[in-house]
Amino acid sequence: MDFSGVLDALPAQDELQTQARPYFNHSVELKKVCTARERAEVLEKAGLNVFFFPSEMVTGCDLLSDSGVTTMTAQQWAALHLGDEAYGSNRGYFTLMENIQKTFGEEFFSEPGTSGPNAFIFHQGRACEDALFSLLSGVGTDLIIPSNGHFDTTQANIELNHIRALNLFSPELKDPASRSHFKGNMDVSRLEELCSEKGSRIPVVYLTVTNNTGGGQPVSMDNIKGVAAVCERYGIPLFFDACRFAENAWFIKRYEGSYENKSIPTIIREMFSYVDGFTISFKKDGLVNMGGGLFLKQGGRFLKRHAALADALLDYQIVKEGHPTYGGMSGRDIMALAVGLQLVTRQEYLSYRIRQVQKFGRSLHDMGIPVLLPIGGHAVYLDVNAFFEGTAMKPDDFGGIALTAVLLAAYGHRACELGYFAFGSYNSERGTHIFPEVNFVRFAVPRLRYEDRDLQNTAEAVKMLYDHRERIPGVEVIYGRELPLRHFKARFAFK
Ligand code: F0G
Repeated sequence: MDFSGVLDALPAQDELQTQARPYFNHSVELKKVCTARERAEVLEKAGLNVFFFPSEMVTGCDLLSDSGVTTMTAQQWAALHLGDEAYGSNRGYFTLMENIQKTFGEEFFSEPGTSGPNAFIFHQGRACEDALFSLLSGVGTDLIIPSNGHFDTTQANIELNHIRALNLFSPELKDPASRSHFKGNMDVSRLEELCSEKGSRIPVVYLTVTNNTGGGQPVSMDNIKGVAAVCERYGIPLFFDACRFAENAWFIKRYEGSYENKSIPTIIREMFSYVDGFTISFKKDGLVNMGGGLFLKQGGRFLKRHAALADALLDYQIVKEGHPTYGGMSGRDIMALAVGLQLVTRQEYLSYRIRQVQKFGRSLHDMGIPVLLPIGGHAVYLDVNAFFEGTAMKPDDFGGIALTAVLLAAYGHRACELGYFAFGSYNSERGTHIFPEVNFVRFAVPRLRYEDRDLQNTAEAVKMLYDHRERIPGVEVIYGRELPLRHFKARFAFK
């Protein structure tokens, strides 16, 4: 008998209960040892704001964000050494151009001198956002930028530039009974209505893939096409906020029937064929610690409708960031990014990455913890209202803030409140709180950083708190209640 006979007689590798990671540890760092009481003392001094807690004392998983916290591969570390820190036209610029063209399409990064500028490198996503929205604010009055869900800094950058940021969440997102795989979609009929009434006031429509504010849920190709068709009808440019473009493509392949046999790179090219430009923070699916970009499609509606903006963007970049051939990035980061873009579209990487997040979410769900289902691509979202249901926790006790503080002090895991406090506001004149529709605590999973057992420990810790949830006290805001972007700055104390 040869091997094929043996292999045919055995269950296949993917039928095993567990799957080995498609990578191994290249180097590791031992964590500091500290006790719950030590963490509590430090967190109390930080006014219970987990952003101000020293990361070295996070003895569990640091799930505050998946941004800029990727563990880089050996190839990326090697690429750092090839970084060329020349002031003009460093080596990495050309490598990056090639990789952007390959990944998203040639028309998003023109060779310098062949046409007007259309590719702008920035130090991170929000810098691209300010460049775009500050220039767009000059193209009209009473402008509106609709989205399937603006991220918090995106919304802030739009509003600081006196434009209205509008979220057209899909109805499924608000329906706990819905098991749609694409709850990140935009509500196309509301977009159609908005465009027919106020189209001339919309300089661009945004689709965030995946939808971070909308529970980290993906957007289907069908929805992308539907939104693009409305935009085309009204002559409005369409943009992606493309931070998690590869993870979104994985969901399309996995759950949108006709894409099952298409490769991830092919799906990505199709997604980007429908948009006229995109902003991106490379700190997510670029697999790097720093970097961002703004890319305008040559021949696309944006460059046609706002032709003067390309040169204005170039001037903005030179004044605020750096020469267009490095923008806001160092040569070494550009090299690591070029390699990161090649890895992030690989099927085995994405499957492991997303399945790890899903497995973590399912463990929480199986333990009875209320989490948003289905589980999204980069994070698990805990429903704070359902978590505290039946306890004395009131909306202005900010249970999500209390939960993240106690989880960090007691068990050493750091998560982020994205709910009544982060997205809410306070009306000082009336003395009333304004609460948003959603109230989540987000557990964002960094890429290539933790093993399943680490996340299992987070799940167990959350379950422990759930079993004792009536012992978690509410918090009062002792500083920053009325400030914009208040979750980054506020201080709290237990009531
Ligand atoms: N857009 C989305 C969808 C994001 O998730 C982020 C950042 C940005 C834009 C801004 O990019 O940080 O490079 O300036 N999200 C991180 C998070 C911070 O934790 O979700 P940036």
